[in-house]
Amino acid sequence: MIFKQLFDTKSSTYTYIISSGIGREALLIDPVIENTQDYLDILNSLKLKLVKVIDTHIHADHISGLKELKTQTNCLTIMGEKSLSEIVALKVKDGEKIKIENIELTSIYTPGHTDDSYSFLMKDRVFTGDTLLINGTGRTDFQNGNSKDQYHSLFERLLKLPSETLVYPAHDYKGNKVSTIGDQKKNNPRLQVNSVDEYVELMKNLKLSSPKMMDIAVPANIKGINLKEFEETIKK
Ligand code: FE2
Repeated sequence: MIFKQLFDTKSSTYTYIISSGIGREALLIDPVIENTQDYLDILNSLKLKLVKVIDTHIHADHISGLKELKTQTNCLTIMGEKSLSEIVALKVKDGEKIKIENIELTSIYTPGHTDDSYSFLMKDRVFTGDTLLINGTGRTDFQNGNSKDQYHSLFERLLKLPSETLVYPAHDYKGNKVSTIGDQKKNNPRLQVNSVDEYVELMKNLKLSSPKMMDIAVPANIKGINLKEFEETIKK
């Protein structure tokens, strides 16, 4: 299997490139538009063909590369069925499988950070979007976020996975790259709560400022934006 974790320094986003390595099909998770050419160069150097691209949710802190990658490679764009995206070709239900060659990802509906947040389980690892971060959890104070829903997504879905399952989040701000469900259960400060009410209280008191890109990124990611339109937007 080919597995690459790429980091966008501006938004601290992790993007994942996955391929079985048997055939030449590849899948990307959470691409950032500014890095489109880097992704294509990496895929080219590995002689991979991009066939599918997934966003875990509508991002507020960066512009997704989905539309541009679709334009350049004709890959299939995928999000969860609750996504408001107007451009994705396939919206998957909870439990639905996404396949490339002998690799299979299962979608897990994990609302809370946003109401369109999905995680994706692939054998020994789970891509948790902004639902479960390493030693943190995604904020729940905009985009129909809901701390109660997030508690259930965490405690009834993600933390029920085998403890050795590798956790690959959509962001990290401290240089962490990977953890495990077991390690997060034990050491993630947000998960050391005894009830849903305690979690809701904890999330209520975070007092975070809004992401800088939010007003541009959310509508752009719902409508879809290509590189040319993006460059015009940031010039303004
Ligand atoms: Fe997010």
